[in-house]
Amino acid sequence: MNFDEIYSNKLALVEDALKKLIVRHEDCPPTLFKAMNYSLFAGGKRIRPVLLLSAHELVGGNVEESMAVACGLEMIHTYSLIHDDLPAMDDDDLRRGMPTNHKVFGEGIAILAGDALLNLAYEVFLENAMKYPHKLERHVRAAFVIARAAGLHGMIGGQVADIEQEGKDIHPDMLRYIHTHKTGALIEAAVRAGVIIEPIERDVEDAVAKYGQKLGLAFQIVDDILDVTGDAASMGKNPSRDEVRKKATFPALYGLEESRRMARDLIEEAVSHLERFGKDAYFLKEIAYYVLKRQK
Ligand code: IPE
Ligand code: IPE
Ligand code: MG
Ligand code: MG
Ligand code: MG
Repeated sequence: MNFDEIYSNKLALVEDALKKLIVRHEDCPPTLFKAMNYSLFAGGKRIRPVLLLSAHELVGGNVEESMAVACGLEMIHTYSLIHDDLPAMDDDDLRRGMPTNHKVFGEGIAILAGDALLNLAYEVFLENAMKYPHKLERHVRAAFVIARAAGLHGMIGGQVADIEQEGKDIHPDMLRYIHTHKTGALIEAAVRAGVIIEPIERDVEDAVAKYGQKLGLAFQIVDDILDVTGDAASMGKNPSRDEVRKKATFPALYGLEESRRMARDLIEEAVSHLERFGKDAYFLKEIAYYVLKRQK
């Protein structure tokens, strides 16, 4: 199987598992159910769950055991997008090729749909952990890694700085903080959580985490570049929004060419941390190159 085939197989597994986890909650208030489904099944790339499953496989794990963890992570990511698009934050109208959640359901329901996805993620982690009593501690650690990455010292911290730095002259260290936190943290957590479900050596966890850190920063630099060079039809979100919002971005600070070079270097560095795994890391390496080439 080539890269595209492996990716689409994993994506199909994630879609299916997410659907199964969500339909169980059909009896919640109908508007909430619709709003959660609307954003969750709007055609995201699912790169975080795919990374988590692939990292788990890298260390000999069975995807059945990590699928719920991967799905919970995608719920957290989707909540972060719904909130990120709100008028009080980036004020965006288009996401995953469709009107943003608050445009369809109103701000109140959009906020609550985000909250519900965030909460459901932890329910899903805990329920899954209880299915593996002999590996309870590993599953708790995986959930802990994701919780920390999503929280005040991770994604939320980065989002706060992202808002506070709008329209300001940004220091390179602050820009790096924003990107490694608002986006990098969850991507690093995806691969770290994937490997710690299995009994592994500390240096394996460290190598995979370093891959995730470099990949995560590159992912957000590419997101910034696409905001300048991309189009709504391919990205599923409107371009030039960062310029309008006067966001702190890599192209704004370093220019497009230098930003591209930085993203390329980070991807090479990410891949270098996987050398020890040889052919077993084929797919994770290819995901890194895909992040660089992506148009959406
Ligand atoms: C968008 O994430 C927000 C960022 C962190 C840059 P993705 O580019 O993964 O968006 P989806 O999930 O594919 O829609
Ligand atoms: C978002 O960064 C990071 C999140 C935590 C959602 P952006 O604001 O650049 O993401 P897009 O461009 O709206 O997807
Ligand atoms: Mg934002
Ligand atoms: Mg945004
Ligand atoms: Mg962006």
